[in-house]
Amino acid sequence: MSKHPALLEHELFNEKTTIELVALLNQSLADTLDLAYQTKQAHWNVKGPNFYGLHLLFDQLYIQLGTTVDDMAERAVALGGQALGTIRAAGSASHLEEYPLDAKQSMVHVNALIDRYSDYTSRVRHAIRKAEKLGDQDTADLYTSVSRAMDKALWMLTASQDA
Ligand SMILES: [Fe+2]
Repeated sequence: MSKHPALLEHELFNEKTTIELVALLNQSLADTLDLAYQTKQAHWNVKGPNFYGLHLLFDQLYIQLGTTVDDMAERAVALGGQALGTIRAAGSASHLEEYPLDAKQSMVHVNALIDRYSDYTSRVRHAIRKAEKLGDQDTADLYTSVSRAMDKALWMLTASQDA
């Protein structure tokens, strides 16, 4: 059987499993990059009540997603795959809904982010189970830590909503 071109010599799992794991990680990489830049869009454009607190919160969430992007991309490569992490690749592969580019007021941003962080988190939870099913506890652990961080992010975003 010829080697898949996306695979390097160093493989921790058999070829079929590696391809599935790398595809899973690349999908998450695309979703995470999309969410990171959606969050930065909110950071730049937020206006209104609690401007400064939200401006800072959105940037903290963006920075955290940047670490997640790096972890996912490097896990894909460590498994023997190729990370697909350009903005264009991520933009066309992302499963998230596009951000409302005309959003200005604080609560429009908070609510738009809550919708997308919720969707993203449920996709991460699904990825935990998929990685476990493929026998990769380390990738499952990576997703578990992301899921825990997203719960915290969602708490901060929902706590910022109007009563
Ligand atoms: Fe900034």
